[in-house]
Amino acid sequence: MKAAYIHSFGGPEVIRFGDMPKPSPKADEILVRNKIIGVGKPDYLVRSGNDPYLAEALAGGLIIGNESAGIVEKVGSDVKTIRPGDKVAVLNATGCGSHAEYSVSKEQYAIILPEGIEPEMVPGVLNLQVAYALLFDAGKIGEGDSMYISGAAGGIGTTMIQMAKSAGIKTIASASSEEKCKVLRKLGADTVFNYKESDTKEIVLEATDGKGADVIYDQTAGKELVERFDYLADFGQIILYNWLNGSPELPQLETVIKCAWHAQAIRPFSFHVFDDKPERRMANAEKCFDMIRDGRVKPFVCKEFPLEQARQAHELLDSGNAIGKIIMHP
Ligand SMILES: NC(=O)c1ccc[n+]([C@@H]2O[C@H](COP(=O)([O-])OP(=O)(O)OC[C@H]3O[C@@H](n4cnc5c(N)ncnc54)[C@H](OP(=O)(O)O)[C@@H]3O)[C@@H](O)[C@H]2O)c1
Repeated sequence: MKAAYIHSFGGPEVIRFGDMPKPSPKADEILVRNKIIGVGKPDYLVRSGNDPYLAEALAGGLIIGNESAGIVEKVGSDVKTIRPGDKVAVLNATGCGSHAEYSVSKEQYAIILPEGIEPEMVPGVLNLQVAYALLFDAGKIGEGDSMYISGAAGGIGTTMIQMAKSAGIKTIASASSEEKCKVLRKLGADTVFNYKESDTKEIVLEATDGKGADVIYDQTAGKELVERFDYLADFGQIILYNWLNGSPELPQLETVIKCAWHAQAIRPFSFHVFDDKPERRMANAEKCFDMIRDGRVKPFVCKEFPLEQARQAHELLDSGNAIGKIIMHP
């Protein structure tokens, strides 16, 4: 089968494209013929070597890729809920294997697509699920609440804005360029600004009548994390879902204690919380599919590449210029 793989960790230049052995599913795995492949930050992390335990696999060529959707070709003997012919979306827990014509996955990381939802309709189904979980499981946010999300023009941010708007949430969103801001406005965010050129605190306070946002979505952490408390509402929470600018620094503890004055909180979030909760994961997916069916959410695709151009897809990913979801076709 054709696949994109690496023999060493590094930039997009380490990606090769060619023939690799078609995988065989183990007893608890399914084999999927991929119809669409998502490209995202987790792939960058694997490719660049953030998961050193994968180093041993490099010698034989490590197929990268974390997410795909397609049709089940074969299932292992212990697989109970999925059958050959089912259409599924897969998030690979190992973080690799999906930049290929075929990939294997453990049963619990696959979601059966319901009637009317084709693999090609859900580019970045993981984005939908993470966006939904960030808003409604972690943020527990609803009609009349306000939220702020920075760096919102990515696959997850563009989905969150659409979901939030349809739920009646006041949405404040920022990005690093005017081009990205234009898209955020088009998606319906109520307040949009370029965080490089504006004072975030001033804008968020103004947009929330001085109260601050009820939920702030933070994927950067670093030293800015502490500053976010200045424009977080009383009883508000910061949902920390990545730390692109490094781990939060001490003396964060002091800040956390001061949060008591405003009953504020930080909640770190990982989608892996659902790894041992397949029913909740499926319930989350069904809500997302409902939103696609009735048009509340349209996955915002940035650019489509053939799989053989995986290197170019990763160059776009690394450039920071992607707006929405990058996808590939095997
Ligand atoms: N916790 C979880 O379970 C979970 C699951 C999946 C993904 N994630 C995380 O969610 C975030 C969004 O995912 P995504 O797929 O939407 O990513 P994406 O499409 O690559 O978008 C990320 C956005 O982050 C902004 N950004 C801010 N600082 C950055 C930096 N230092 N380097 C690169 N980009 C930076 C960029 O916008 P600006 O140029 O406007 O800043 C970019 O548009 C990622 O950080 C991802 O790792 C978390």
